[in-house]
Amino acid sequence: MEPSVTVTKARVISSSHEMQRVSEELRLSGKRIGVVPTMGYLHEGHLSLIRIAKDHSDVVITSIFVNPTQFASHEDFEKYPRDFDRDRRLAEEAGTDILFCPDTKNMYPEPYLTYVEVKNITEVLEGKSRPIYFLGVTTIVTKLFHITKPHVAVFGQKDAQQEVVIKQMTRDMNFDVDIVVAPIVREPDGLAMSSRNVYLSPEERKDAVILYESLQLAERMIRNGERNAKAVISAMKKLIERKKSATVDYISIADRERLTQLGAFESNQSVLISLAVRIGNTRLIDNTSLTI
Ligand code: PAJ
Repeated sequence: MEPSVTVTKARVISSSHEMQRVSEELRLSGKRIGVVPTMGYLHEGHLSLIRIAKDHSDVVITSIFVNPTQFASHEDFEKYPRDFDRDRRLAEEAGTDILFCPDTKNMYPEPYLTYVEVKNITEVLEGKSRPIYFLGVTTIVTKLFHITKPHVAVFGQKDAQQEVVIKQMTRDMNFDVDIVVAPIVREPDGLAMSSRNVYLSPEERKDAVILYESLQLAERMIRNGERNAKAVISAMKKLIERKKSATVDYISIADRERLTQLGAFESNQSVLISLAVRIGNTRLIDNTSLTI
């Protein structure tokens, strides 16, 4: 007989007041709280974060909230994929104890007037292509930290700039929260898992692996001694543009912490190679980090 896996039902909380009260009680009873902020439509990437949170805490809170303030008006807020029942089952199986699923009114009661802004590092890469994106992310993550009162919060390296921005905000705002970063989970062919991959047609899905292949090419070139960022970027662009459905938004080689663009690499330098590419109408991002 198959060994049976016990899945404990997660408590579902949709009010921020109730969530705050429950988190306060957990803290008073000495529990270590781990939070995994998500926008739902969970996949193996999100689930890996929940499992890591479980290793770092006694109680795992997974939040599911498609945050309107991080979407520009022309972006996919309305059609962003949502499936609460499936999310609930997957989050429970991965070890979530509490699902925090507020609605927009609960998170942004009218009139809503307060935002948290991280300067400078939010103006490049994703922030350049999506000007209000990080204002929305840092505002919602601040709110989630105040509501769930975590000791530890887990984010994915998939969104490498988000990770850098949240670490900066946590430091600057004196949040007493440990930020843990989890590696990128990929499909067997290398495509980074993303809730947005469902938008891809079968043909586009095949083309989408080019993001990962271009990162591998960059790593190979650097390992073989290439030290000029422009040469690496231009080889990546050339490879990607062989796919008819692909349009490059940006390709960047930057300092891993400060996110400043690099011209040439030095020994022992930590670099972040990142890119955003439109495959058909779907904008995908991916990245890799390496020390030269
Ligand atoms: P979302 O895109 O749902 O991602 C939630 C978390 O899962 C993020 O920390 C993201 O980096 C991580 N993640 C996504 N795909 C991953 C993958 N393939 N491997 C590992 N981790 C992965 O990021 C957001 O939501 C939002 O901006 C949020 C932080 C929730 C604020 O609204």
